[in-house]
Amino acid sequence: MTTSPLIVLEDVEKRFEDRRARRKTVALEGLSLGVAEGEFVCLLGPSGCGKSTVLDLLAGFEQPTRGRVTIDGKPVGRPSPDRGIVFQEATLFPWLSVIDNITFAPRLAGRPASEYRPRAQELIEMMGLCGFEHHAVYELSGGMRQRVAIARAWISQPLLLLMDEPFGALDAQTRLAMQELLLAAREQRRSTVLFVTHDIEEALFLSDRIAIMSGRPGRIVEEIIVPYPRPRAYQEIIATRSFGELKRSILATLREQAARPQHATTESLPHGDDLRSYSRSH
Ligand SMILES: Nc1ncnc2c1ncn2[C@@H]1O[C@H](COP(=O)(O)OP(=O)(O)OP(=O)(O)O)[C@@H](O)[C@H]1O
Ligand SMILES: [Mg+2]
Repeated sequence: MTTSPLIVLEDVEKRFEDRRARRKTVALEGLSLGVAEGEFVCLLGPSGCGKSTVLDLLAGFEQPTRGRVTIDGKPVGRPSPDRGIVFQEATLFPWLSVIDNITFAPRLAGRPASEYRPRAQELIEMMGLCGFEHHAVYELSGGMRQRVAIARAWISQPLLLLMDEPFGALDAQTRLAMQELLLAAREQRRSTVLFVTHDIEEALFLSDRIAIMSGRPGRIVEEIIVPYPRPRAYQEIIATRSFGELKRSILATLREQAARPQHATTESLPHGDDLRSYSRSH
C-alpha cells in the first residue's frame, strides 16, 4: 500500500512582483517534491535558487502563484506551532530573555508552566545555554542566538520541522554536536524534517534523501537516497567509500547548476498597471 506523502509540492511556481518598481522575480517554476511522514529530506541548491521560498510556502508565510502545496492533504494555512521553524537568520524577540524566547509558543498557547518548564530546562542544557537563561538576546553571540532559535522551535515537539541552514553560523564542533543532537532527538520522536543546507557532508550525515535544486527559477533536478542506516555515527559514515563518491557527485551537480545562467531573474514589468494582461500574454 502506498500512502501519499505528508508534504506535497506539485508543479509549484512562485513569482514575486513589485508593481511599484515594475519588477518580477520568478523564484520557483515547475517544482515538485514529496516528503513522507517521518522522513528527513535535505534541500541543496545554489544561492538564490528558492530554497528559503520553499520553506516559506510550507510555513504559510507565502502562497504559490501556481501549483499545489499541501501538508497532510490540506492546503497550507496560516503559520502554526505544529510546524517548528528555524529561520536562516536567528529571529528572536529582542525584548525577551533567553528562557522567555524558548517558551514563547507554549506560553502563547496557554500551556501550564509545569508542562513546558522541565522541557525548556532540558533544551537549555542540551544547547549549552546554562547560566544564560535570563540574559537578553543582545548579550548573546550569534551562534548562541541560533541555538536559542533551535530550542524555541523544538519546545513544542512539532511533528514537522522546517529548518533553513540552522547550523550555518556555528563553529565546526558545535555544528557537529547540534547535528548529533538533532538525530538523537529524532530517535525519540520521529518528526518529519525538511532541512536546507549548503553543506553536502551535513546533508549526507543527517538525511534520508537529498533533493538538489536547479539555479533560479528553482525546481528539483536530482534526488539522492542516502544509504546509511540509523542510528548513525559521523566518524563511521565519513570513512565509507560511498560517502566520498556521493559527495563528489552532488558537488558536480551543484557546480553545474550554479554555473547555469540564472535567467528569468528580475525582469522588468511593462509600464501601466495591467499586469493581468501581461501574465496572459507571457
Ligand atoms: N519577499 C520577496 N520579494 C521579492 N523577491 C523575493 C522575496 N523572497 C525571495 N525573493 C527572491 O526569490 C529568489 C529566491 O530567494 P530565496 O531566499 O528563496 O533563495 P535561497 O535559495 O534561499 O538562497 P540562499 O541560499 O542565498 O539563502 C531570489 O531571487 C530572491 O531575490
Ligand atoms: Mg535561503
